[in-house]
Amino acid sequence: MLPSQKPVTPNFSSGPCAKRPGYDVSTLDLTVLGRSHRAPIGKEALKSACLDTAKILGLPEGYRVAVVPASDTGAMEMAMWSMLGERPVDVLYWESFGQGWATDITKQLQLKDVNIHSADYGQLPDFSKVNCDHDVVFTWNGTTSGARVPNADWIDTNREGLTFCDATSAVFAQDIEWQKLDVITYSWQKVLGGEGGHGMLILSPKAVARLESYTPSWPLPKIFRMTKGGKLIESLFTGATINTPSMLCVVDYLDALNWVESIGGVNETIARANNNLSTIEDFVAKHAWIEFLAKDKTVRSNTSVCLTLDLSPEQVKSVIKLLDDNAVAYDIGAYRDAPAGLRIWCGATIENSNLVALLPWLEWAYKEVKNT
Ligand SMILES: Cc1ncc(COP(=O)(O)O)c(C=O)c1O
Repeated sequence: MLPSQKPVTPNFSSGPCAKRPGYDVSTLDLTVLGRSHRAPIGKEALKSACLDTAKILGLPEGYRVAVVPASDTGAMEMAMWSMLGERPVDVLYWESFGQGWATDITKQLQLKDVNIHSADYGQLPDFSKVNCDHDVVFTWNGTTSGARVPNADWIDTNREGLTFCDATSAVFAQDIEWQKLDVITYSWQKVLGGEGGHGMLILSPKAVARLESYTPSWPLPKIFRMTKGGKLIESLFTGATINTPSMLCVVDYLDALNWVESIGGVNETIARANNNLSTIEDFVAKHAWIEFLAKDKTVRSNTSVCLTLDLSPEQVKSVIKLLDDNAVAYDIGAYRDAPAGLRIWCGATIENSNLVALLPWLEWAYKEVKNT
């Protein structure tokens, strides 16, 4: 028997993620389109993107926010290329994106004094081995493994090094301990359901001090450059972007920020993701054929929820296809480098009712495939 109800929105992709509830592109304030991003109207919109982000996230005094090119990858790479190399680096990874940063550091930047701490999909490395007097590079939430750091207790408050955190699938959905982080990056298309293309780069005062006191030995392309004559280009952090952004994407981001405020702020977006995760946890607890890739509840992601099924990889593909063909769930296959399974986005823009409607279909699809 087919379940009686389908999710109203079957978008469960882990990026770009579902638009916010009630999103309607025709209601965006488009007065800024067709104007220069350096005209006062454009600059004002970009400045709001920086300053409203700091306010809504509750960033500590002195932390700066910039809109930068090339999404989260652009933000991470401009930070690493600009600041690494001054001291040894500890890199932690437990899934493919974090591993990509390790590759950047060892193969592209070719840093020699590097300690790698890694773990398999679904697990976390041993944080007690990290030396916080080195620079530390890690991912807050492993999007492709569904495992996240439970906290930042392992980071020294009085560290000598800088901490670089790719938090793209965590910001707005998880409690981030900002004071423990010096470089934080994310993109709009994750928890807020915004658009790709632009990255957000958040810098602590200590990161700024590094930028002003250290010049890497390698060349920096223009789109990575944050200083001029040894001084931070402050205007980057008030809306004067390095090159031309999509103002349509900026307006879309401002709409998402407004939505966050309208529902009660970041506590509410976190609560929505937590609630979505517990819906899946209840379901998994009742069904022996489905399991979390992250077995330890304390490290389980509430955004990129990764699940394994007692099926072969081919059968898992059939489940995914059945759900897609029935317009019940789109884009929920595990990431290409991750173990076969499902990845269901549970971030703030996912309405819990859609998830509740999806789960009986998941059971139906599983049984269809298992019994054929
Ligand atoms: C943890 C993590 N880092 C980096 C990226 C790359 O992000 P972007 O495509 O926004 O550059 C992703 C994308 O899913 C991600 O999940």
